[in-house]
Amino acid sequence: MRSHQVSSPTVRESTAYGRPNACNLCHLDQTLAWTAEKLHAWYNQPMADLPRDDQTISAAVQWILKGDAGQRVLMAWGFGWESAQEIAGRDWLYPYLIYSLTDPYAAVRFDAWKSLQTLPGFPNFSFNYTATDPVLSEAATRAYEKWLQGVRNPNAVYRPETLLDSNGRWRQDIFQRLRTERDDKRILLAE
Ligand code: HEC
Repeated sequence: MRSHQVSSPTVRESTAYGRPNACNLCHLDQTLAWTAEKLHAWYNQPMADLPRDDQTISAAVQWILKGDAGQRVLMAWGFGWESAQEIAGRDWLYPYLIYSLTDPYAAVRFDAWKSLQTLPGFPNFSFNYTATDPVLSEAATRAYEKWLQGVRNPNAVYRPETLLDSNGRWRQDIFQRLRTERDDKRILLAE
């Protein structure tokens, strides 16, 4: 929904309307359950009964993998936001932004590319976000190899909520499941 209304973050807004909340837009590595707990402790908001994924997998990770195009573009942008990178860390963002270079929506690919360029090692990464599928795949493979071979920080620690193992590789079973759950309904954002 397009709206300029500013409201206090609630977890219900995210579970009922799929609207990403401000907390998880900065705390990209945290679950919805984490946010619900803080909002309960600080503002006495009711505790929601959340599904298992929302207790174990970061909300941002779920939005970028299985969200609709509006949620995915917001995440592709948010992963490049300096305030979010400072609190959520940068090391684990590469695979998500590189994966999003092959998103079916050009707007998502564009924002993923812009955000990727904010990360060390990728400021000059060239990419044509309106290219054909095989060219997009080739660019994503090139980016992933570049990250694995030359940019990845060998001392990085990946939180389990990010779905990355200790080498920065996806836990394939869960990653593949979330990918196939992607909401592919057509989205038209007028601004
Ligand atoms: C603009 C980005 C931003 C937003 C939005 C934001 N935070 Fe934070 N949060 C931060 C930063 C940066 C810190 C670290 C502050 C410090 O260390 O001084 C932090 C620290 C915290 C901490 C303590 C450290 C930790 O990780 O346990 C909690 C808890 C927290 N935020 C919860 C929330 C909740 C709940 C919301 C939504 C109501 C929220 N934050 C919204 C950026 C943000």
